[in-house]
Amino acid sequence: MISRRTSGLRNLLLLQLIILLVRECRSLRSVIIRVPEVVKSGDSVTLSCDYDLEQAALYTIKWYRNHEEFYRFVPKESPPSKAFSVPFINVDVSKSGPTTVTLRGVRRELTGKYACEVSADAPLFHTEIMAAHMTVAELPNGGVDLNVQPPKAEIGKRVTADCTSPGSDPAANITWFINSEKVNHQTRNVRLYPTRIETDSALGLHSAKSKLEITVDKTHFGNKNNIAIRCEGNVFSLWKRTADAFVQGDTPQLAPFMEPTSSQSHTGNNPRLRNKSSKFSAFPQEFLVILCVLLLKS
Ligand SMILES: *[C@@H]1O[C@H](CO)[C@@H](O)[C@H](O)[C@H]1NC(C)=O
Ligand SMILES: *[C@@H]1O[C@H](CO)[C@@H](O)[C@H](O)[C@H]1NC(C)=O
Repeated sequence: MISRRTSGLRNLLLLQLIILLVRECRSLRSVIIRVPEVVKSGDSVTLSCDYDLEQAALYTIKWYRNHEEFYRFVPKESPPSKAFSVPFINVDVSKSGPTTVTLRGVRRELTGKYACEVSADAPLFHTEIMAAHMTVAELPNGGVDLNVQPPKAEIGKRVTADCTSPGSDPAANITWFINSEKVNHQTRNVRLYPTRIETDSALGLHSAKSKLEITVDKTHFGNKNNIAIRCEGNVFSLWKRTADAFVQGDTPQLAPFMEPTSSQSHTGNNPRLRNKSSKFSAFPQEFLVILCVLLLKS
C-alpha cells in the first residue's frame, strides 16, 4: 500500500519534472548569439544576444570570453551593468545592456570564443548558453609587392613572378591571375609554389610570399602582345590589395600573325580557291563579243 502510494507520487513528480523540462526547453530555445567572425584590430565591436524568455523575466545575462566572464547585466541590480576586469577587454558600458555588449578597441589577443549566458528569473531560473568564435585580425600596412622577371619573353621561355604581402595576423592569402583568369595548380604551363610565411616574432606579424613560374605559350598572348599578371592579397573580407605587371611579347612576327583575318579577302586574292562556277562567270565577256562579231562577219 505504502510502496504503491510512493511510486504514484514518484510518477507524479516525474511527470511534473518532464512538464517543467519541456516548458524550460521551450522557454529559452531561441537564444541567438551574434558575433562578427572577423574584425579589424582597433575597431569597436558590438556582440549581441537575442533571446525569447516567453513571459519569464530576465534574471541575468552574462558574457564570457574563453570561459572568463567579462560582462554581466542584472536588471534587478543597480546599476544593472557590471564589467569585470579581464586582460585586453575594454567594455563600453554605455553601449552595453540586456542584449548587447560593446568592446572598445579590440586587440589581436581577443581572438577567441565568446559566449552569452541567459538566465530566466524565478521560478525556473532556466539558463541557456550560446557561443561563437571571433577573430581579431591585424591588417597589413601597405600593399602587395609584385616582381616579374624577365619583363620581355618569347614563347617557350620562362617567366617568374614573386608576390609579397606585408606582415599581418593572420598572414594574407595570395591569389594569382594570368590575363584575368585565376591560377590554380591545374593551370597549364604554370607552376605555383607553396606560399611561404615569414614571421616577425617581435611584432607577431606574418608576411606571405608566393611564387609563380610561367612557361610562356602562345595562348598567353591571346590577341595582344603581352601577358597580364596580377597578384591579389586578401585578409578575409577586411583587406584586399592587387598589383599588376605585364610581360611583353618578344617575337616581332607575333603581331602580323595575330591580325584578324577574313576568309573573303583571302579567297578573293587567291585565284586557286575560286569556284568552277565563278570561273565561268569570270569568263571575259569581251572575248564573247569578239567571237560573235567574228562569226557574224564570216
Ligand atoms: C584564406 O583562404 C582560406 C580558403 O578560402 C580561408 O578559409 C581563410 O579564411 C583565408 N584567410 C585569410 C586570412 O583571408
Ligand atoms: C563555290 O560555289 C558554291 C555554289 O555557288 C558555293 O556554295 C561555295 O561556297 C563556292 N566555293 C568557294 C570556294 O567559293
